[in-house]
Amino acid sequence: MKTRKTLRFAAVFLALALVAAACGGDDEGSDTTVDGGTDTTVDGGTMMDSVEVFSWWTGGGEAAGLDEMIKIFASTDPDIEFVNSAVAGGAGTNARAVLASRLQANDPPDSWQGHAGQELIGTYVAADQIEPLNFLYDQEGWLDVMPDTLIPLISNDGNIYSVPVNIHRANVVWANPTVLSDAGISMPTSLADFFTALDTLQAGGMDAPLAMGEQWTSMHLFETIMLASMGPDDWNGLWDGSVGWDSAAVTQGIEDYAKALTYTNSDASALSWQDAGQLVLDGTSAFNIMGDWQEGFFRELGSVPQTDYVWAAVPGTEGNFQFLSDSFVLAKNAPHRDSAIAWLTVAGSNQGQDAFNPVKGSIPARNDADRSLYGEYLLSAMDDWASNTVVGSLTHGVVANDSWKSEIDTALGLFLVNGDVEALQTAFVAAQAASG
Ligand code: GAL
Repeated sequence: MKTRKTLRFAAVFLALALVAAACGGDDEGSDTTVDGGTDTTVDGGTMMDSVEVFSWWTGGGEAAGLDEMIKIFASTDPDIEFVNSAVAGGAGTNARAVLASRLQANDPPDSWQGHAGQELIGTYVAADQIEPLNFLYDQEGWLDVMPDTLIPLISNDGNIYSVPVNIHRANVVWANPTVLSDAGISMPTSLADFFTALDTLQAGGMDAPLAMGEQWTSMHLFETIMLASMGPDDWNGLWDGSVGWDSAAVTQGIEDYAKALTYTNSDASALSWQDAGQLVLDGTSAFNIMGDWQEGFFRELGSVPQTDYVWAAVPGTEGNFQFLSDSFVLAKNAPHRDSAIAWLTVAGSNQGQDAFNPVKGSIPARNDADRSLYGEYLLSAMDDWASNTVVGSLTHGVVANDSWKSEIDTALGLFLVNGDVEALQTAFVAAQAASG
């Protein structure tokens, strides 16, 4: 009896030592795995399960939203420690690079944030880095509550690969109502009116009436202006190959985008999306085109809708909802698979989504939200999501895989420097030929 006990202890000790060595100090060195996937974390002397969740939600309404979801998780799964491995940087620019090198090194977090659409399918599914979640959809009845639009974007060959936590709208213009009324401007509804309003503001002495931030926010501006300029059918056609990147509609879209850039701040590359939003709240700029996470940030600052800020669909895109969806995946060979499934169960739950989204500034992916929890803007987003023409976002992973998007990004970066419309269009054509 004694011998068996000693041997068992020695085996467990050996397993702990081996796994601790394999972890290489990850998770502050406290993470150990024994017995084929039973997870234990030594935390002040108590043994706890843990789950490592990776995202880019570190501030400005985003971390606060995640915290609300974590609170729900702590109440449903009090024995699992949530290890928050968020990496700062809007739109995941930094986080995704860190994630890529971890995946490359075969050191995946248990669960990570990925956008529904090509980012998910063209990257993580294509590289066989995540597990199908059909069993969880069956168990939780999610097919009855997740929108039909979304399921194909997170599926491949009949397998469903992620748990969407929200729907964000990309094509929103945020504005300072005092600045607009002082200038005698009402919210523009077409691109032509928008440019006239921006001209009026500039003539009145406002240097940069359209606030912009670092490079990804210029891609965000680009996609919304393209939608305004081309309309939803042509925009969709660019991604399914039915509209040529060499078409006159693209030339016009680039020209409109070039014009929009003339109203932006010269220090854009040094500013985050929150900084650009702040310029609107301050009245330094009148407008900012940004996804509705901007409202999460405004609310976190205590700003009041209709008083401190107003919103509309990007001029020229009324009736269209350019969307993206944040979702969470289950890593193949997740170090803490059972805990990750517990986390994903909360991420897909009504309770989790209704805690997270009102703070994050998004609407739930599920269609059974408690509307009384949402503010005026988000209620309007819910109605628009249900009634508008829905198209996908480029910047946030829906329409193009990573390599195509990265070629477009490089071309847009050059365009910010040289403003060469023809060269940009040529680069778009080449990007589609290489990666589209
Ligand atoms: C998007 C993401 C949003 C928000 C935004 C700014 O890509 O889907 O949830 O985080 O970036 O960081």
